[in-house]
Amino acid sequence: MTVQTRDFFSFSDIQQAADYIRAHTSHQPEIGLILGSGLSPLAEEIDHADRIPYRNIPHFPVSGVEGHAGMLVIGHLAGQPVLVMQGRTHFYEGYTVQHITLPVRVMQALGVKTLVVTNAAGGINPNFQAGDLMLIVDHINMLGFGGANPLRGPNLSEFGPRFPSMTHPYDRQLRDLAKQAADRLNIPLREGVYACLAGPSFETPAEIRFLRTIGADAVGMSTVPEVIVANHGGMRVLGVSSITNVAVASLDSERETTHQEVLETGKLIVPRLMALLKEVLAAMA
Ligand code: HPA
Repeated sequence: MTVQTRDFFSFSDIQQAADYIRAHTSHQPEIGLILGSGLSPLAEEIDHADRIPYRNIPHFPVSGVEGHAGMLVIGHLAGQPVLVMQGRTHFYEGYTVQHITLPVRVMQALGVKTLVVTNAAGGINPNFQAGDLMLIVDHINMLGFGGANPLRGPNLSEFGPRFPSMTHPYDRQLRDLAKQAADRLNIPLREGVYACLAGPSFETPAEIRFLRTIGADAVGMSTVPEVIVANHGGMRVLGVSSITNVAVASLDSERETTHQEVLETGKLIVPRLMALLKEVLAAMA
């Protein structure tokens, strides 16, 4: 598979993709959901679903990674109209961060006001265990430190300012809703800071200790570019990580992080994450 990626997209590129989607659904969702590795089954629960393959949508990036379906599913979940990205693309696949985040721009053009992002992540906080759910309270954009910020390039002033604030990247009200929903369902919900790295290699033990030192509780290879673009466009964001593995912080450990483990634990977490998201969506109504 060849990856054709681009650095910059214009307002009319975004409109073109939005027009295609509008022509293929009658739903007008105000909530968008991005499903991470292994979480595709969530999209099977959407009622009255219109399904649009990414490859049919102008300019959309298409993922080749196992566990990422590449389907836009628009319909109802917990009584709310939602637009669900069943699978996402990643920087490590060869796409630019501008291309990865194009779907968030398209959501904004379609009138989506709230973005719910999910991902699989490695637990860094020593209190975390594989199988935990973590509410993302803040992030560290290691990918951006290297220059890969999705807002690099001409500013799309239709969406937001040249220098947007990132002081409140994850909406407090939505975080409170999620905590209350988790309480009602008796689902333990951790809270923490998510660090985004480029991948695709997992971290060395020294890198994990470094990330712990700078305040990260979990690490992954996605989400942050989308959240930056969402904030630039004035969306409210809720983020939840599935802690699929405990990141290895010692060279003496016998443990290895594998994609297989990430997918298998991800599958075990799906029912709890689904229940939590549905409860949150119902509470948003
Ligand atoms: N590191 C980076 N990304 C991940 C991990 C990890 O340990 N687990 C799931 N995604």
